[in-house]
Amino acid sequence: MKNIIINSQNEMIDFAKKVANSINNNKVIALYGNLGVGKSFFAKNFINFLQEIPSEVLSPTFNIVYSYKTKKGEIFHFDLYRIKHEEELENIGFFEAVKNHITLIEWPQISEKYLPKNCLKITIKNVINHHEEAREIIIENVE
Ligand SMILES: Nc1ncnc2c1ncn2[C@@H]1O[C@H](COP(=O)(O)OP(=O)(O)OP(=O)(O)O)[C@@H](O)[C@H]1O
Ligand SMILES: [Mg+2]
Repeated sequence: MKNIIINSQNEMIDFAKKVANSINNNKVIALYGNLGVGKSFFAKNFINFLQEIPSEVLSPTFNIVYSYKTKKGEIFHFDLYRIKHEEELENIGFFEAVKNHITLIEWPQISEKYLPKNCLKITIKNVINHHEEAREIIIENVE
């Protein structure tokens, strides 16, 4: 487990690039954190960094999943906030994605028992009494 404090959106962009650089083929990243803390912001910068031609990365809050072609293969970006029953995971292509592709998952709680053993868990928290853009990031490489 690793714990870092960042102080700005730019530092979050640097962090997302660093993780994107070191990630390999079918790695799954579970993104934890409260509403509006920066999970989609991280995902957007992670994906943009790996795209040959950066395209608009939208928050999958309503669509549940988007995918992007990148230098490291296709990346799937899920937001499971609106998934209320795990049976729905099959319909949205969740299992295929986590098995074969780099996959970023916001609100991963409902999918927890299906996450691979080597899943990377990233938790983003607001830092009380700090600059508004400050965040605490907890990184757990479960394996
Ligand atoms: N250090 C930071 N890291 C990430 N985002 C930041 C930071 N500082 C400010 N922000 C802003 O906070 C907002 C985070 O919104 P974002 O959509 O990424 O949240 P989220 O965690 O995905 O929320 P949701 O649970 O609704 O999906 C963005 O508008 C971003 O610009
Ligand atoms: Mg989001």
